[in-house]
Amino acid sequence: MTQAVLGVIGGSGVYDLPGLEDVREEAVQSPWGEPSDALRIGRIGDTKVVFLARHGRGHRLSPSGINYRANIDVLKRAGVTDLVSLSACGSFRSELHPGLFVLVDQFVDRTHGRASSFFGNGCVAHVSLAHPIGPALQARIAQAAEAEEIAVHRGGTYVCMEGPQFSSFAESTTYKAQGYDVVGMTNMPEAKLAREAEITYATIAMVTDFDCWHPTHDAVDVAAVVAVARANASKAARLVARLARDFPRESEACPVGSKHALDGAIMTAESH
Ligand code: ADE
Repeated sequence: MTQAVLGVIGGSGVYDLPGLEDVREEAVQSPWGEPSDALRIGRIGDTKVVFLARHGRGHRLSPSGINYRANIDVLKRAGVTDLVSLSACGSFRSELHPGLFVLVDQFVDRTHGRASSFFGNGCVAHVSLAHPIGPALQARIAQAAEAEEIAVHRGGTYVCMEGPQFSSFAESTTYKAQGYDVVGMTNMPEAKLAREAEITYATIAMVTDFDCWHPTHDAVDVAAVVAVARANASKAARLVARLARDFPRESEACPVGSKHALDGAIMTAESH
């Protein structure tokens, strides 16, 4: 049996995981370079939990400057089987209001220039990303939210922009017209790399603002994002704690095959 290990990546406003017990800090080395921070490894209930601050403690790294490959690699080395991404986002729908958690199930990648694969010339692989979110992990998050009486919206498309500037009005209204639900700057290539590493991935997109399309809300700024993200942090910690306490001991199969994503994905001949 493979022991289930829950990874948690904390985004803006989430630089630590209160509730984590028996914590030790480990600066895991990666051949892909420097991860965002040392891992905080501990347990919640009987579940091993590994926490990583995506932007580093003190929020030192911009979305374009994060070494996503090193982050996913060190989480994999720490044994993470299932990964929860806590991510601040803007919203394109009135009903997805600041403070709400959205369990997105799709991504659109509008980033550019980020290293987004562990593979390349020499070893070519194409994993499926048709369903980037693990539905069983997402269902467990929804159950934990219900148990904690935390409102979540299930489903939605997260468009990942490069940043670091927020969107123009034209971009914001275009994303909205295209039917995207929320916008952020980090879940791509994170979700792609998690899939290549055969780690099941699910996002809790924590709405902090209405970006700049909304006729009766101010355009987003950092003060608004930070204020809501801080207010959301303890709710997110409570949700993760419940998820961890109720997590199965053994790593679960993923209905969309994330734990076997590399089966049949490598195109390069074994001897060449
Ligand atoms: N993160 C939080 N709010 C955002 C927004 N409006 N656009 C991009 N990333 C965000």
